[in-house]
Amino acid sequence: MKESLTFLTTLTITPYQRRHLQSVRDLLFHSTLVHTHLDWYETDAWLDSGDVCMRLGWNRGHLVGLLATSRPLNNTCWVRLAAIHDYADQRAVLYALWRDLTAELRTLNVHTVALLAVRDWITGYIPAMGFVYGEDVITLARFGHDVPPPLADRPTIRVAELRDLERMADVDQAAFPPPWQLSLDEIRQAHRISSSCTVALKDEKIVGYQLSTLYFDGAHLARLAVAPDVQGMGVGGALLGDVLGRFFRRGIYTMTLNTQTSNMRSRRLYSRFGFQPNGYDLPFWSAQL
Ligand SMILES: CC(C)(COP(=O)(O)OP(=O)(O)OC[C@H]1O[C@@H](n2cnc3c(N)ncnc32)[C@H](O)[C@@H]1OP(=O)(O)O)[C@@H](O)C(=O)NCCC(=O)NCCS
Repeated sequence: MKESLTFLTTLTITPYQRRHLQSVRDLLFHSTLVHTHLDWYETDAWLDSGDVCMRLGWNRGHLVGLLATSRPLNNTCWVRLAAIHDYADQRAVLYALWRDLTAELRTLNVHTVALLAVRDWITGYIPAMGFVYGEDVITLARFGHDVPPPLADRPTIRVAELRDLERMADVDQAAFPPPWQLSLDEIRQAHRISSSCTVALKDEKIVGYQLSTLYFDGAHLARLAVAPDVQGMGVGGALLGDVLGRFFRRGIYTMTLNTQTSNMRSRRLYSRFGFQPNGYDLPFWSAQL
């Protein structure tokens, strides 16, 4: 008890500044209690992106913990980065970081903080921070070159260009509810590292897009979104069939993707195209501030 009281009086919480970068890298490298959910960013690039609300915990000049969320979008943000030193009072550090960070998030009008439990350790700590389990994000996979033929009235599909990104962000934010929406900056970064990004047009207007990446032995459909007013009219299926064809022509016959357990509309579409759960499920949690 005495030890942890001493520890708490020496724990200092500060905002992140660029001069702390090396300490952050060291903690992320050496600690076993690390949570990273950065999607399309490498850690350094994300820290530099300006899309960050972050706190550092220091004990006598040593970095013992860090906690960071994305910048809010529609009153919601994601826990993107967390790490606690293996020999720190882990609960005390994490909760002190959370208290300090949530004070800033409240001033930014954040109502919901979302977290994808990519590593198990964090689920032992987050209920006491107010997080509640929501559902699983599941991974679906398919292999082979059979796809259903396109439906009639197929939209025009072409490769996305830089000038399309703003409209893609609009479609994304209309199609998905928070916290699943992407900001324009996230779409820009996802587009930069994508292996295939296409848009669907009806009457020359972008009404849907898909964005896929390549990994060591297959493709990953990272994003598929269709504007709400044309959903159910074959646009999603057309984008999916088209991108599968693009990968087949490059000799790539495996594709994975993620969706929420409760997203039945997407699951029906994916099942029609031969996708099946592969067991890589991640729990989604959220906290109301
Ligand atoms: C999920 C989403 C991408 C589907 O796109 P969509 O354009 O609405 O879907 P489609 O019109 O292509 O599909 C409608 C139906 O036609 C079927 N279909 C589509 N293409 C087909 C084809 N080539 N052959 C046979 N059936 C087809 C689908 O299976 C679906 O069947 P259902 O009536 O049993 O559900 C879209 O609803 C959306 O953007 N939702 C919000 C965001 C989201 O959830 N994205 C995916 C999560 S990762």
